[in-house]
Amino acid sequence: MPADRPDPGVLHPVILSVPESRTALSGRRQVEYLSRMARQAASRSAGLSGMVLDQFPKDDRGTPLACRGVCWSLSHKPQKVAGVVARSPVGIDLEKVRPVHPGLFRRIASEKEWRLVGARDLTALFMVWTAKEAVLKATGRGLAGLSRCRIKEVHSGRGLILEAGRTCWNVEHCTIGGGFMAAVTAAGKNAVIWHVER
Ligand SMILES: CC(C)(COP(=O)(O)OP(=O)(O)OC[C@H]1O[C@@H](n2cnc3c(N)ncnc32)[C@H](O)[C@@H]1OP(=O)(O)O)[C@@H](O)C(=O)NCCC(=O)NCCS
Repeated sequence: MPADRPDPGVLHPVILSVPESRTALSGRRQVEYLSRMARQAASRSAGLSGMVLDQFPKDDRGTPLACRGVCWSLSHKPQKVAGVVARSPVGIDLEKVRPVHPGLFRRIASEKEWRLVGARDLTALFMVWTAKEAVLKATGRGLAGLSRCRIKEVHSGRGLILEAGRTCWNVEHCTIGGGFMAAVTAAGKNAVIWHVER
């Protein structure tokens, strides 16, 4: 592979920090701003991957559609946004690790899955949450697919393997300053290079 041509087996998720002057936005203006910024992150991911993404089509349920063979996924929170592209279905999720209702542990994973994970603290919860959200976005199912999305393997370090339907998904995580955690996955085996911009 020539040094100047991006490797198609590498994902380049991009995470951007929302400028402080914009973190006070609220309501529709905030969502519109964050959506736009997350699209910039996905376009940047496309540039790093040797692709072009300048349109963001969706189906009538709001699920992202591939644009000229480029699959894309976004996540946006008030302080950070994330975007990623791939030639195959791809999903990304970004969450702030924060206190949650204890019932959420049971809602997002079974007892068997928690035994695989080992730890049951907030870091573990958001590792599972972001992994499942990333997979559910890659499948296009959103939360409707949660009951069929299961953790199969947990690798010490950063990797998880999840099964959704009959497909297995490798998920990689990244922890980001400010208490954020991100997860990314794409169909097939991919290396991941995170691009986190302040
Ligand atoms: C809609 C959903 C896909 C993600 O929602 P979210 O985490 O609140 O929001 P994020 O910012 O991470 O992602 C939003 C983006 O997801 C994308 N998206 C929406 N529906 C999608 C679907 N069915 N498949 C893939 N991507 C989808 C959109 O691009 C959207 O951004 P846009 O509206 O600017 O285009 C869905 O999983 C959801 O409602 N989650 C709620 C959170 C929750 O309870 N999670 C439980 C833990 S597993």
